[in-house]
Amino acid sequence: MTLEHGGNIAAAASRFNIPAAHWIDLSTGISPWIWPVPAVPQQVWQQLPYPDGQLELAAAAYYGCQREALVAVPGSQYALQYTPALLPAGAVAIPQRGYAEHRVAWRSAGHRIVEYADSAALRGLVEAGSVDHALVINPNNPTAEIIPARQLQDLHMQLQQRGGWLVVDEAFADICAAHSLAATCPQPGLVVYRSLGKFFGLAGVRLGFMLAPQPLCQRMQALMPPWSLSHPARWVGEVALRDRHWQSGQLLRLQQASAQWLQLLRDCVPRLRFVATALFVTGQGEANYCQALYQAMGRRAVLLRVFEAIGGSGLLRFGLPLPADRDLIAQLIREAVEECECIGN
Ligand SMILES: Cc1ncc(COP(=O)(O)O)c(C=O)c1O
Repeated sequence: MTLEHGGNIAAAASRFNIPAAHWIDLSTGISPWIWPVPAVPQQVWQQLPYPDGQLELAAAAYYGCQREALVAVPGSQYALQYTPALLPAGAVAIPQRGYAEHRVAWRSAGHRIVEYADSAALRGLVEAGSVDHALVINPNNPTAEIIPARQLQDLHMQLQQRGGWLVVDEAFADICAAHSLAATCPQPGLVVYRSLGKFFGLAGVRLGFMLAPQPLCQRMQALMPPWSLSHPARWVGEVALRDRHWQSGQLLRLQQASAQWLQLLRDCVPRLRFVATALFVTGQGEANYCQALYQAMGRRAVLLRVFEAIGGSGLLRFGLPLPADRDLIAQLIREAVEECECIGN
């Protein structure tokens, strides 16, 4: 099954009949600033990537975990797609709204899906013993909900005592390290996914990590054909993970940009209720209105991400724009909002 994801400018270009080069893409949570990739040495392109462990050491230092607790994968997508098949089949709690690939992966591995709306509902399911495992996306994409680390540790303890697993997708967690469980890895019954695609803006390099007890890391490693990670991906990942100076600047830049973006959206689109992470802002409102605004922005060559309606309620995600584009986009949003005035009124 192929799911729809953000960032597909080619599809938007054909849907709205506007050439790809004209689009502003706000449909993802990928940082608009990317880690500045230097020239990759010739031998990195030329030689096969016999793992020397340097990427893994850099990642362990960055995530604050033990080296043995992680395995590098071609994007956190790879880990989240194959991990469910490595865990005992059972009932798994999955967020009603969240990165949809999780649901597909757990279901095709034979697990039974039990949906939860928010952290309170998840706690209820775990405390009642209604699920064996729980999948948490922290912070959640697209709802922006963050479950505090202490609460996650409590859920983990309860699940683990019954032989279940807590799996935390931390693809966006670089922006809220205080709520990450990465530094507690390895622990029995705990898996964490990390990505270089969002905070570092390196989605194209296809690099991520699974943090888990060593036997599970070894099984994940064994699943991957040799050279699954390219040598340039390993090289770029290692240097980016060690670049603390850029990382602290990036965090500040994203926090400031997201606060300004949230304020602008609240001013321009009063009919949506907005929540933010440092990497994206999500508006919630009447489903028809979200759809109409998505279409109106699309006609103006600005791609947003609209999510499936649940009980008449819709979600619209606005990725961060570059500051240079912000005034133009604000103008286009105001026009689109005016055009959608009559929807549902
Ligand atoms: C919550 C979440 N997890 C994981 C992924 C997969 O990212 P990647 O494979 O680039 O690490 C995505 C992609 O959008 C995502 O939104």
